[in-house]
Amino acid sequence: MSEGWINVADAERLAAEKLDPGPLGYFAGGAGDEVTLRDNLVAWRRWRLRPRVLSTDVSAVTTATELLGAPLSMPILVAPVAYQRLAHPEGEVGMAGAAAAAATAMCLSTLATARPSEVAASAPPGRRWFQLYCFEDEAITTALMDEAVDSGFEAIVVTVDLPRGGNRERDARTGFKLPDGLHIPSVRAAIGDDRELLVEETFTLMNPALGWSDIEALAARSSVPVLVKGLLTAEDAVLAVEHGVAGVIVSNHGGRQLDCVEATADVLVEIVDAVDGRAAVLVDGGIRRGVDVAIALALGADAVLVGRPALWGLAAGGEAGARRVLELLQAELELGLALCGCASPADLSRDHVRRAPATSVYSDQ
Ligand code: FNR
Ligand code: LAC
Repeated sequence: MSEGWINVADAERLAAEKLDPGPLGYFAGGAGDEVTLRDNLVAWRRWRLRPRVLSTDVSAVTTATELLGAPLSMPILVAPVAYQRLAHPEGEVGMAGAAAAAATAMCLSTLATARPSEVAASAPPGRRWFQLYCFEDEAITTALMDEAVDSGFEAIVVTVDLPRGGNRERDARTGFKLPDGLHIPSVRAAIGDDRELLVEETFTLMNPALGWSDIEALAARSSVPVLVKGLLTAEDAVLAVEHGVAGVIVSNHGGRQLDCVEATADVLVEIVDAVDGRAAVLVDGGIRRGVDVAIALALGADAVLVGRPALWGLAAGGEAGARRVLELLQAELELGLALCGCASPADLSRDHVRRAPATSVYSDQ
């Protein structure tokens, strides 16, 4: 079935047909008027590629890269996305299998419907990171982190843009609730059962008073690299580096937190410049095509993450569907590299991009 898709938009259409309105609105939606949700997509298209010809032999192009000292098949990772069993019964285990088959890394959410040890036991071996929301109850946070590291997860991604949940009006309109019996091990550890919950109720379990000193303490305590996810300014990127992180993820949470913040494609350059090689810089939000990935890399990102694209694949076709989406993005990136005159992702540089002319008829597409 997934054979018929030829791009991420096809997977999104199929997923939208399959999902009920509540989960679909939760997955697809953003905050407020969804200005940032839309801007994330169009902002990549405010850049244009500047391909070079003939100077590089592109008869053998690779998408392979290295991140935090370890190899990956491509600079495209699977972003942490909560409650994946709502998208497909295979849930996070299916997603982990897809990432493993594509030889890239998956970041498992704290609000996953499978615990880290279960993903490690049930999915084929693969590269995995763990996304951390810090619970008010520190013992839960510590236990989660320890379980992830003991299960072979290679990095901890602390998400810092959710001191409170954003204003998700699609969820309010559909009356979306996490169904009774949707097992979310971390939430169960915090409240003792699997009762029906509003998404907002899960957010209130987290510590809204988290600060840079907590990040520094986590980084010092962790035996694996710690990254922070959800930065949008050079100022915060500098603080992150000063507090000992191995990497920053430029992200506005897919437009789901504060509406009317800048698109990630618009802030990437200031953050790459502020970090100045002292930590890895990753970016997510609105990446839907291999050329979007190429633009992000040319602007200086070490890698990108995709949230909804992989989720649409999972919803549309389970593990095979998520795998297909990752393969499509990899194939698009490989072609984009070849046509840019690059033999590998490392060959992309700022010389390969320029701001789109303001008057272009395509600048808002
Ligand atoms: C997310 N995101 C997210 N981030 C995080 O750190 N922990 C989480 O549990 C979740 N959960 C989540 C659920 C859903 C349904 C979505 C769409 C997103 C944010 C995610 O990691 C990423 O930042 C965005 O999805 C990137 O934007 P795109 O690729 O979806 O446009
Ligand atoms: C969200 C959370 C779970 O965006 O990160 O819904």
